[in-house]
This record gives sequence, structure tokens and C-alpha cells, in this order.
Amino acid sequence: MSNPTISRLLVTGGAGFIGSAFIRYLLEKVPHIEKVVNLDLLTYAGNLDNLSSVSSDPRYAFVHGDILNSPLAEQQIRTHEIEAIVHFAAESHVDRSIENPRAFYRTNVEGTLSLLEVLRRFPDLHFHHVSTDEVYGSVEEGTFTEESLYQPNSPYAASKAASDHFVRAYANTYGLSVTLSHSSNNYGPCQFAEKFIPRMITGCLKEEPLPVYGKGINVRDWIYVEDHVEAIWLIVENGQRGQTYNIGGKKELRNIDLLKMLIKRVAHAKGHQPEKYHSLITFVEDRPGHDLRYSLQCEKIEKELGWEASHPFELGLEKTIAWYLEHSHVEV
Ligand SMILES: NC(=O)c1ccc[n+]([C@@H]2O[C@H](COP(=O)([O-])OP(=O)(O)OC[C@H]3O[C@@H](n4cnc5c(N)ncnc54)[C@H](O)[C@@H]3O)[C@@H](O)[C@H]2O)c1
Repeated sequence: MSNPTISRLLVTGGAGFIGSAFIRYLLEKVPHIEKVVNLDLLTYAGNLDNLSSVSSDPRYAFVHGDILNSPLAEQQIRTHEIEAIVHFAAESHVDRSIENPRAFYRTNVEGTLSLLEVLRRFPDLHFHHVSTDEVYGSVEEGTFTEESLYQPNSPYAASKAASDHFVRAYANTYGLSVTLSHSSNNYGPCQFAEKFIPRMITGCLKEEPLPVYGKGINVRDWIYVEDHVEAIWLIVENGQRGQTYNIGGKKELRNIDLLKMLIKRVAHAKGHQPEKYHSLITFVEDRPGHDLRYSLQCEKIEKELGWEASHPFELGLEKTIAWYLEHSHVEV
């Protein structure tokens, strides 16, 4: 049986890196969209400039607020006759979670729970929960499937894991319509510069030290943000209700190798020799509990929904670097 058509959405955290790419995707690429309401608290990670290309679209509305404010979320659902919630809002940076785990508990666990409580009053609404490969922990060999054990190692991963469990439990207990997705590391334009790729690009541009944890041998799988949001939309529209899907980019790289690729490209774009930036690389004490390798198996979404990441990594990097070069005058 096919899912009901969805054309009216509430997006949480839509001013962030991935949420804003999702909103741009909906309004620019999906013709039948009627309404997109962006509920975002505008923390340090939220930036409405990410949505400047769509903010005057009459189908778009911004609501400044907290996902823990249940009456506000409920009011938006009623006013705009929302058919699905796509939940991105979160505290998302592992280092910050080590400094202040409680903030991650509040937003990621309590915030998700508040939305689920609201959802109980709207049994026809669909809820898509955006999660991460980090809930599976680290794997030295092989890949994580959707059936892999949860073994979160950072407070961030633990908070996302807890929120996943609540989503699953609410679906089973209260009969809610949900889907979940676990994606690997995203990269692309508009990412806050605390994350690895933009931090290294902006570090080169400012000629600042380029800090690399440990020996730089940690492996991450990288996905271009536009591939990720396309996969999320496919799941919202066509995914089996109650199911979880992995979304990976099939591009695993050691941090140090990725940094060398970035340096080569930034140096080329700026007309410098790469050595100028190599000398900025600074190995720093490893992050506590640093996962060595993440790796996702994505056969389920490939077979069921016919999705595969389509951006070649080199092209994605070029687009990303070009964006940071263009925006080097603003603090991102
Ligand atoms: N960035 C990645 O590589 C990655 C990978 C896998 C999964 N994810 C998940 O994707 C989602 C989005 O990640 P991102 O990188 O875009 O994050 P981000 O940090 O760039 O953006 C988070 C957004 O949520 C908003 N927000 C935070 N607390 C809020 C609250 N209480 N109420 C309303 N809004 C609030 C912020 O203002 C911001 O706009 C997160 O759930 C994250 O766990 C991210």
C-alpha cells in the first residue's frame, strides 16, 4: 500500500546545516509542496541566511521557538494543517557534548519526547526522525546495518540513541507513524565552521593552526548534504512506516587524508603551494572516547527505494570549498 501524499510539513531545526538544505530541496525541487514551517530556536548553530534563497516563498514560514514548547508545536500543526514532521533539531557537535552533556540530553532526548507527546494527539501525522551512524559506535572492520547493536560512545551519540529508542517505543506503544534514518558525516555549504571540513577550509583561509585529533587515523564516511536530504525525502514519501534506513556516502577516509585533499584544493583555488597549509597541521591530544571508524551498509535504501548517493566526492568538495571561499568575509 502506498503512503498518503505529503505536501505540508513542519521541519524542526530548519535553520541548521542539514535542515536548511532539506527546506531548500523541498521548495526548489518538489513541485507539490504546499507548506513548509521551520521551527527553530536559532541556537549558535542556526542561521537564517541559510534560507535566504527561499525565505520570500509564500509556502515557507519561520517560527522562532523551542521544540520543548509543546503548545507552540501543536499550534503550528493545527494552523498549517501539517501532515508530516521532519525532525532535525538537535545539539550536534560531539566536542560540545563532552563539555556539556546535559544540553544534549535536554534538546535531543527531552525535545524529541516533547514532539512525540504532541504527535499522540495527531494520529494521522507522520514523523521522520533524523539520526546518525554514531549510535552504532565504532567498527574496525565490516559495516553497520540497520540491525546492528546500539553502542554509543559519546554523550552526543548516547542522546541520539535515546531519542531513537523513544521514537521506536512511541510508534509501537501508541501506533504512531514513524520512520528513522541514520546518516554518516555530512559535508557541504552552510555548515557551521566547528565541524571538521569547514573548520579545516576556514583554517586554511585564515592561515590558522589546523588541529587534528590523535594521529588523524580516524575514519569517517562522508555524504554530500544534498544527497542526504534527497534520501530523507524519499523515505518520508515512500519509506515503509516503522522502518529505519541507513544513508551513507560510500566514501570512507582517514581524517589526515581528507585534510590533505582539502589543502590541495584550497591551495589550488588560492594560487598557493600546498606546503603553505601543510605547515599549519597540528596534531592535538585525542578526543576522549574517539570512535575509530564508522561505516554504513546502505543496501536497504538502495533496494527498497532505489536511492544511492549521486554526488561524486570530488565534485562535492569543490562545491563546498567554493562556498566557503565565497563566504570567507562572513563568520560561519
Ligand atoms: N551533521 C552531520 O554530519 C550529521 C550526521 C548525521 C546525523 N545528523 C543529525 O542531523 C540533524 C541536523 O544536524 P545539523 O548538522 O544540521 O545540525 P546543526 O547543529 O547545524 O543544526 C541544528 C539546528 O537545530 C536548532 N535547534 C537546536 N536546539 C533546538 C531546540 N531546542 N528547538 C528548536 N531548534 C533547535 C538549531 O538552532 C540549529 O538550527 C541532527 O539531528 C543531527 O544529529 C547530523
